[in-house]
Amino acid sequence: MVILLTGASRGIGAALAQSFTESGHRVLLVSRNRTELEKIVDGCNRKAGEILAHSIPFDLTDLTDLENEFESRIRACTGTIDALINNAGQLIRKAFSQVEIQDARNMFEVNFFVPAQLIRICLPFMSQSHLKHVVNVTSMAGFQGSNKFSGLSYYSASKAALGTLTECLAEELKEESVKVNALAIGAVQTEMLAEAFPEYKAPLDPPQMAQFMKWFTLEGAGYFNGKILPVSLATP
Ligand SMILES: NC(=O)c1ccc[n+]([C@@H]2O[C@H](COP(=O)([O-])OP(=O)(O)OC[C@H]3O[C@@H](n4cnc5c(N)ncnc54)[C@H](OP(=O)(O)O)[C@@H]3O)[C@@H](O)[C@H]2O)c1
Repeated sequence: MVILLTGASRGIGAALAQSFTESGHRVLLVSRNRTELEKIVDGCNRKAGEILAHSIPFDLTDLTDLENEFESRIRACTGTIDALINNAGQLIRKAFSQVEIQDARNMFEVNFFVPAQLIRICLPFMSQSHLKHVVNVTSMAGFQGSNKFSGLSYYSASKAALGTLTECLAEELKEESVKVNALAIGAVQTEMLAEAFPEYKAPLDPPQMAQFMKWFTLEGAGYFNGKILPVSLATP
C-alpha cells in the first residue's frame, strides 16, 4: 500500500512511518522540518533495506502552493495513493481570552483547512486503489461529550470541525467507494503533549498508538465509514 502521511517528523507520525515501512508499505511523508524528516526517511529505508519512504518537506499552511507541489511530488514518487492520514496538527494552549486571532487561524488552518484541501488533492490519486481510505486524526478534546480542558478551546473546535467534515465526506464520497473516518485519540506521550501539559504522563507512547492506527488505516475501512472513533485510555 502507499500511504500519504502528514506530520511525520516526530511524535505519532514518525512512529507511524516506521510501523508502515517495517511492514513493507510505502509512505510519502510530509512536515516542515526537513532535517528531522530526512532522519525519519533514512531510518525507515535503512531498516527496510529498500526505498519505501519518501519525504515531502513542506509547510502545509502554504495553501497557494499546496496543490501544485503535492500533485507533482505524488506523481514523481508513486503516482497513486491508497490511504491518506491527516495527522499533522497544531496545538496552542492558552486561555480563550488570550488567544491571538492569528493563533486561532493557524490552528484552524493546520487542523481543518489543510486536511480538507489534502483530501481534495489526493482523491484523483486514489481512484485506482482498492482501499481508498482517508483517516483524519482528531482528538478527544474535540469529541462531543468528553471531558474538556481549559486552554484548548480553538484546538478542540478545530478538531471537532474535522470530525464533522469526516461525517459529511463519507456521505458525499460513497459513490466513489472512498471511506472517510476520524480517530479521536486520547493522550499519547509526544512533544505536543509535553509542551501543552508538562506535568502529565500519558498512558501510551507513539509506537503503541501507531500500531493501532496502522491496523485501522489498512483494515478499518472494511468496518467503518463516516465514524469518529474515540481511541482513548485517558484524556487530555
Ligand atoms: N499527543 C497527543 O496526546 C494527542 C492527543 C490527541 C490528538 N493528537 C493529534 O495527533 C496528531 C499528532 O500529534 P503528535 O502529538 O504526534 O504531535 P507533534 O509531536 O507535535 O507532531 C506534529 C507533527 O505535525 C507536523 N506539522 C505541524 N504543523 C505543520 C505544518 N504547518 N506543515 C507540515 N507539518 C506540520 C510537525 O512537523 P514539523 O514541525 O516538522 O512541521 C510534526 O511532525 C495531531 O493531529 C494531534 O493534534 C495528539
